[in-house]
Amino acid sequence: MYTKRLITFALGILFSCAGILLASTPNDSIKNMMHADSVLTGNALFVKNCGRCHKLKDPAKYTRAQWPGLVNKMQKRAKITDDQKALILSFLLTEARKEK
Ligand code: HEC
Repeated sequence: MYTKRLITFALGILFSCAGILLASTPNDSIKNMMHADSVLTGNALFVKNCGRCHKLKDPAKYTRAQWPGLVNKMQKRAKITDDQKALILSFLLTEARKEK
């Protein structure tokens, strides 16, 4: 008798949690979270990999047109994977200098 009530209670909690999770994370906000996360990770990867040989370059020192070539050149030096390069680049592009 007691056990049965306990199980019902536990299941109730389980379902209401699942409901909250499903209701509060529609597809779009998951995408936004992932986007924000990849910018953050790009920032972290940049700080970790790009300040070893020279001071960290100011992302705003170069334009969106300049960064891809520069990061390609530095990829070999920094020994980063293509995925890491893509994340770093996406971070740099969000901070890049506006073209004239
Ligand atoms: C192994 C050492 C090393 C690492 C790691 C490194 N760099 Fe460099 N970087 C250099 C050297 C040496 C130069 C100067 C010579 C040159 O410009 O080719 C340079 C120059 C630069 C310049 C100026 C280039 C120009 O033409 O004005 C930028 C921007 C830059 N690095 C960005 C980065 C970024 C972003 C990363 C991380 C992905 C990175 N660097 C990682 C060695 C490194």
